[in-house]
Amino acid sequence: MSILASRLARIKPSPTNALTGLVVELKAQGRDIISLGAGEPDFDTPENIKDAAVRAMRRGETKYTPVPGTPELRKAISAKFKRENRLEYSPDQITVGCGGKQVLYNALMATLDEGDEVIIPAPYWVSYPDMVLLADGTPVIVPTSETDGFKLRAKDIEAAITPKTKWIMLNSPSNPTGAAYSKAELKAVTDVLTRHPHVWVLTDDIYEHVIYDDFVFATPAEIEPSLYARTLTVNGMSKAYCMTGWRVGYAGGPIELIRAMNMVQSQSSTHTSSISQAASVEALNGPQDFIPEHNRRFKERRDLIVAMLNQSRGITCRTPEGAFYVYPCCQGVIGKTTPEGKTIATDTDFVTYLLESEGVAVVQGTAFGLAPYFRISYATSNEALEEAGRRIQRACAALR
Ligand SMILES: Cc1ncc(COP(=O)(O)O)c(C=O)c1O
Repeated sequence: MSILASRLARIKPSPTNALTGLVVELKAQGRDIISLGAGEPDFDTPENIKDAAVRAMRRGETKYTPVPGTPELRKAISAKFKRENRLEYSPDQITVGCGGKQVLYNALMATLDEGDEVIIPAPYWVSYPDMVLLADGTPVIVPTSETDGFKLRAKDIEAAITPKTKWIMLNSPSNPTGAAYSKAELKAVTDVLTRHPHVWVLTDDIYEHVIYDDFVFATPAEIEPSLYARTLTVNGMSKAYCMTGWRVGYAGGPIELIRAMNMVQSQSSTHTSSISQAASVEALNGPQDFIPEHNRRFKERRDLIVAMLNQSRGITCRTPEGAFYVYPCCQGVIGKTTPEGKTIATDTDFVTYLLESEGVAVVQGTAFGLAPYFRISYATSNEALEEAGRRIQRACAALR
């Protein structure tokens, strides 16, 4: 008999983490690899945030904190929700965990019973369906199309809702597409949800601040106040504040749900690092001027890679509204043959070919639930992106 729980058979390791492992291995073998797989900003954490962490350590803030997070941090988050999202969440309606990832996980563990359905639009962040499965729920995948900007259509949501639907998960701007809902587009989604009072809204706003071209961010409970009582608004420090390694994510929501999430956390990680929490207070309350500066540089890279992809034979790429990903379509290379005589039958074949022939590491769309596409993270230098673009163009031109 295996030592492993049967629940483990339902899930797979994160394909994006697997790519990171493969890239490290290939580089160790001396291969010249450009990795466009990273899900994190390449910018360093701002100095004022690091200094706040050092000061916290020196003050002796190195002990356990309350499970939901320090009162100072929850106060700063409460102020952030009010200032940036016009949402009133009191500090006891806020929970802090080890990254947005743990906060999402706590929410699903605290709410799902066997057979409960969770609507997940595809393409999705790789962890959503597996987290639902780990929590004994059933993911209901609703594909979107590039023609609709990778955004849900009202009629598709309507068709996916059943009496067993517990949550709909929304993520705007999105990983992996970078697509983001305008206020009007989000209103079309929330209008459907107002008609189904048993469906709760889990919105993952982690890329809120990574937006371009005058795009205005909006979140469901802000657009449709009647959803406030059944919405969990999730956010975190990782992306906007370049703090992926610090492991701080948070959510605001109805108190009963937040308390249940805190209970799950109290029996697992207890809380995230006291030092990271002190740093997050400074991040939220301190200067925010590096955010537009980062976005200016990200936008330059986005425009560069989108242009180079659209000049690659067989590839087309939409210009996304936010995040630091593009999700190009590789339909035009499917059925073609590589110089080694291999047929490209799927997006997985194509990304394998890119890695083997040109040393460019990207992630196949199949991993995110919508093929034939692939995901590029452009959170890397302009030089690396330009070189990657040239290599992709060369790889595409070599296909027959
Ligand atoms: C859509 C989305 N949600 C949540 C996360 C979790 O980030 P963290 O756990 O670092 O807060 C990520 C990270 O890649 C993400 O892309």
